[in-house]
This record gives sequence, structure tokens and C-alpha cells, in this order.
Amino acid sequence: MKGIEFHNRENELKAIQAILDAEPSLITFIYGPINSGKTTLISHLIEELPEEYVVFYINLRTKFLSSYDEFIESLFEMEMETEGALKKRKETLAELVSSVTKVAGIPINKEFLDYVFKDNKPKNAFSYIIQLFEEVRASGKHPVLILDELQKIGDVKVNGFLIYELFNFFIDLTKEKHLAHIFVATSDSLFLEQIYSEAMLEGRCRYLLVDDFDYEATAAFLEKHGFTDDETVVAWGYCGGKPGYLIELANMKLGGEDITKKVDKMLEEVISRFIFMLARNKETKSDIIDMLTIFATVEAVKYSDSMDIDLLSFLVKQNILFLDPVNRTIKPQSRLNLLAIREMIR
Ligand SMILES: Nc1ncnc2c1ncn2[C@@H]1O[C@H](COP(=O)(O)OP(=O)(O)OP(=O)(O)O)[C@@H](O)[C@H]1O
Ligand SMILES: [Mg+2]
Repeated sequence: MKGIEFHNRENELKAIQAILDAEPSLITFIYGPINSGKTTLISHLIEELPEEYVVFYINLRTKFLSSYDEFIESLFEMEMETEGALKKRKETLAELVSSVTKVAGIPINKEFLDYVFKDNKPKNAFSYIIQLFEEVRASGKHPVLILDELQKIGDVKVNGFLIYELFNFFIDLTKEKHLAHIFVATSDSLFLEQIYSEAMLEGRCRYLLVDDFDYEATAAFLEKHGFTDDETVVAWGYCGGKPGYLIELANMKLGGEDITKKVDKMLEEVISRFIFMLARNKETKSDIIDMLTIFATVEAVKYSDSMDIDLLSFLVKQNILFLDPVNRTIKPQSRLNLLAIREMIR
């Protein structure tokens, strides 16, 4: 299948470039609705960054994380000793730094790993990372640490919650030491809301919203993929600017399929999901419908404290609504969700 090239995101890339041009001083949280293109933006950025940046990218999505050890394992990329190879083992930090390739975790060897695991202390891991980053700086380059899907460690405990230790570490790397750029991406808006209300992070981080494409970017994308004006109206009307869906439609188009039939089917699937969700939550069904009725006439609302936060959290967890704590807005996760909501409340 033909690959789909990276589209748009000039503003977001500019914002990130400005962050990278300055001395590290804040943690950057990249957030947005599901399938809005956060990971793709990060991957593209990594590809495009000049050599002077050494990027450590860790995506926790596919990692199984229930303990400290598992988190440490997912963070570090153990230097592999290929059997029979005459390759010299990397013993020093400088040698490890020189082995960094694009889109890799943090390199480590057996000796350092033993130290990092010793006594189950996050401190050991963090002091190793600091040394490694200092080595990067000594080589005249800038370390950039990117953690995707950080909410996955939300429940991991070492004494207290690991996430707090990690945030303290990030603050140390940015605001205190100005040593590395830190980016954290998440599609979990409840997790982000917790972060947003976290006193220890106040004034120590910034938020970058990566939302679905706007109409202009969507129309340009569809035009690039040979959509007629009528097809563009249909695609935007059903899928809005969600890259995840647009890619699906572009591939359908490529395969010569009927776009209108496809979007009808997509909507039908979302509606089915809603029906089962309501069926499984009989006791709260009427409250759910009440809350969703706000979207009968508008696409987004401001959060107000008269709203039932538990019910809202439930609908966010169900991936029906997206909560943007920074702008205090709530909207359906996608245009398809909005249409399904309207269908349900009719
Ligand atoms: N700027 C873009 N240009 C072209 N395709 C894109 C772009 N952004 C996203 N996509 C496509 O949309 C799909 C979803 O993108 P991606 O996985 O990056 O979203 P995400 O926001 O990280 O999702 P999640 O919420 O699951 O973490 C992918 O198939 C990706 O290839
Ligand atoms: Mg992602």
C-alpha cells in the first residue's frame, strides 16, 4: 500500500521549534483528542530535527507496565551483544551516547543497568540519565527526551506514585538544570486534567494542543488525495478533520470505493457502540442522555461546575467526549461521535 505523506501542522511544528531553540525551562505536554496525530507529529519532528539534537523517544503504549522494574525496562535500550560479532562493547557513557540512533530509547549497558536496578530506587535511574545527558551536552549537542502515552505509568508505585518522582525529575532537568528538553504526550484527557490541577507542576510546564485538522487543512489533504468537491463535503461532514479517519477514507478512495457508503458505515459503527454503552449503563442512561443533549445544537461547550464531573469523566473514559482542561472545553472525540450523539438524543 502506498504510504501517506505527512500533512500540514506548520503551526505546531513552529511552536515546537521555538521551544527547542530556547534553553530548556519547562516541561511540554502535548495533548489532544484520540487519533489527532500527536504521535505522528512527534515522529515527523524527530525525522526532521538536525543532528545537533539527540532524541530519546519512548512510547509506552505497547509496554506492559505494572511495576517499577517494568517501567525501567521500557525506558532503557539495552546494548545488544550480537553473537560472534567483533564489535567492541560500549563501556563508557560517551560510547553509549554515540550509539544513539533516531527513535530509540535511552542506551545503557549491563554495568549501568545493575546500578539503575539497585534497591528499586528511581533516583539511580535518574542520576544515570543525568550523566548521560551531560555527556550529550559535552559533545556539543542537545538532549531531547520524549515520552509518549505517559498515563500508562499512572498507577505504578515505588513508595509513593512513580509519576510524582518522574515529574520532580523532569522539573530538575528543565527548570533547575536546563539540561534537556522534555516532551510528554498523552491522549488521556482525564490524566491531563490531573496533571493540570497538580500544584507541583504549576508554572513548570506548558501545554500544546494537537487537535484534528481544521477545515482548510482537511480540504487540502483531501484534494491531495483526489477527492472531488462533493466527496470533500461528505468527508468533512462525517469525519471532520480527524487524521485517523481521513487516512482511512483516502485509502478507500485509492481502492476505488464509494466514500458515501463508507462514512455511513463508519457512523453506524459509532452508533452501535453508543447503544451498547447505554445498554450496559441502565441506571445512568437518562443522565448520560441529558448530558449529551448539550451537543444537540453546539459542537463544544465550556466546562461549568454545575456539570456532574463523575458522569463527564465516565463519558471521557468511554472516549465519547474529549476534555481540554487547559481551555476548559468539552467536545465529542470526533465529528462522527457528534453525529452519533445527535442521532441518539433525537
Ligand atoms: N499530519 C499528518 N499527516 C498525515 N497523516 C497523519 C498526520 N497526523 C496523523 N496522521 C495519521 O493519522 C493516524 C493517527 O495518528 P496518530 O497515531 O499520530 O494519532 P495520535 O494522536 O497519536 O493517536 P492516539 O490518541 O491514539 O495516541 C495515523 O494513521 C497517522 O498516520
Ligand atoms: Mg499517539
